Amino acid sequence: MALMRAVVLEKTGSAKMLKTKMIPRPEYIDEEQVIVKMAYAGINYADILSRKGMYSWAPKRPFTLGLEGTGVIVKKGEKVEGFDIGDRVIVGTQSGTYAEYVKVHYSRIFPAFPNYSLKENAAVAGSYMTAMVALREMGRVREGETILVQAAAGALGISTCQLAKAMGLKVAGTASRAEKIDFLREKIGIDLAINYTTQDFVQEIKEWTRGKGVNIVLESVGGKVFQDSLRVLAPTGRIVLVGATSISYSKKNPLSLFRAWKQIPRVNLLKAIRRSYGVLGFHLGWLLTNSREILTPIIEDLQKIIVEHDIHPVIDTVYPLEQASSAHQRIESRRNIGKVILAIDESVGS
Ligand SMILES: NC(=O)c1ccc[n+]([C@@H]2O[C@H](COP(=O)([O-])OP(=O)(O)OC[C@H]3O[C@@H](n4cnc5c(N)ncnc54)[C@H](OP(=O)(O)O)[C@@H]3O)[C@@H](O)[C@H]2O)c1
Repeated sequence: MALMRAVVLEKTGSAKMLKTKMIPRPEYIDEEQVIVKMAYAGINYADILSRKGMYSWAPKRPFTLGLEGTGVIVKKGEKVEGFDIGDRVIVGTQSGTYAEYVKVHYSRIFPAFPNYSLKENAAVAGSYMTAMVALREMGRVREGETILVQAAAGALGISTCQLAKAMGLKVAGTASRAEKIDFLREKIGIDLAINYTTQDFVQEIKEWTRGKGVNIVLESVGGKVFQDSLRVLAPTGRIVLVGATSISYSKKNPLSLFRAWKQIPRVNLLKAIRRSYGVLGFHLGWLLTNSREILTPIIEDLQKIIVEHDIHPVIDTVYPLEQASSAHQRIESRRNIGKVILAIDESVGS
């Protein structure tokens, strides 16, 4: 039996316990499946949550970590349409991309963007597709509108800022460190970068919009940040909620469970009526599994925008697969600016 390297989550715990091990390589496929030989895997915050046992969409352990990545098709089933062996593809799936090979249904792959390297393509699914759904589908943004992006210097945050600017929005973003603020201002060119550790973002947004508030908020932090984000919405503004990064708990500590429960974003819909705003949420993984057809035109639009505006992913760091633990630690340190990537086999697709 042929073996492959993979990072398998057997139990929950700290980043340090992530190790590669040799497991059987996928060999047999259904008629609608493909096997992709992986070049890179993109790391998502959800992987950190999975590792801690806090991601409800994670499969039952043990499983190979990884929701996205890129590689080349090496095997395909008879009923797979639109793809051939040798095609460079993006994989967006529930698990399995921290490995040399992944077996998936062909609805979970997309042609790699030809203007991007495979490394850059590893940042497309989790960050750019999510940003595009948030802005275009859920937020229904229009040119000239204003947006506040929370956690703007993270992988999803930067993609959202880049696409929002390309769509003609005025962009404000928050981050916690001076180097992130400088990057957002100087390299991404956002209109207002707020260091929320030294500035009050509610006040800053009120001043920036002359008291009107913003039309859109991309929110992924939860807790007080979510509640304060509601306060800066303009009439008919939309808040698009995609996560709650600040929520953390230990199943062994009932107090932490209670604290986490209190941090879960909640809305009083009567207040939404009174203040005339919309609260929206979505999960890219759910859409991939249940409504792939919704994503197809969004991805086509995404590709047009990134070509027209010469948008490239900001890659913070690339770690070899064996250093998945360092990659997780990098994200948990909150020092990453943009995407953290695992290199599995850089010769694939080159
Ligand atoms: N719904 C979906 O389909 C979907 C898809 C992709 C991502 N997401 C969500 O979007 C969020 C961003 O994901 P990402 O992968 O791009 O991660 P990321 O932005 O690279 O990292 C998270 C950032 O959140 C900020 N943050 C604020 N409060 C935090 C706290 N208490 N603990 C840790 N970080 C905190 C940190 O930036 P500062 O220190 O600068 O604030 C941190 O760097 C996550 O919540 C993720 O689950 C959702």
